[in-house]
Amino acid sequence: MSPRRMPAASDAVGWREEPLRITVDGEPVDGVAGQTIAGVLLAAGRLAWRRAPSGAPRGVFCGIGVCFDCLVTVGAERDVRACRRRARDGDVVTTQSRGTGDGEPPDAPRGVDEGGEVPHGDDL
Ligand code: FES
Repeated sequence: MSPRRMPAASDAVGWREEPLRITVDGEPVDGVAGQTIAGVLLAAGRLAWRRAPSGAPRGVFCGIGVCFDCLVTVGAERDVRACRRRARDGDVVTTQSRGTGDGEPPDAPRGVDEGGEVPHGDDL
């Protein structure tokens, strides 16, 4: 489980997590029922999962379904806003990027650059 989630023993309400697992580009990623796909990705440390045509990394920007920065493919459905779609156990998520013009989409970013910096502001 991710260290970003509250441990069950610390939850004063006594809420219990119901685990789920999705795959993202073939990799299993664990989450809990009620999280959005973006929430699962963020909790797993993935801050960006696609690239804009300029090559800039994209992930969650608004978090409320307005900006479309968080688009993914879920099953056969393209252009799903990850911040608006609840993750379901077994979801098959594929990251998507608009091509850069060379016919090949760029690799999906992993969220943190090699220097350990988290991209933000104009970097996203
Ligand atoms: S983060 Fe803006 S639409 Fe999902």
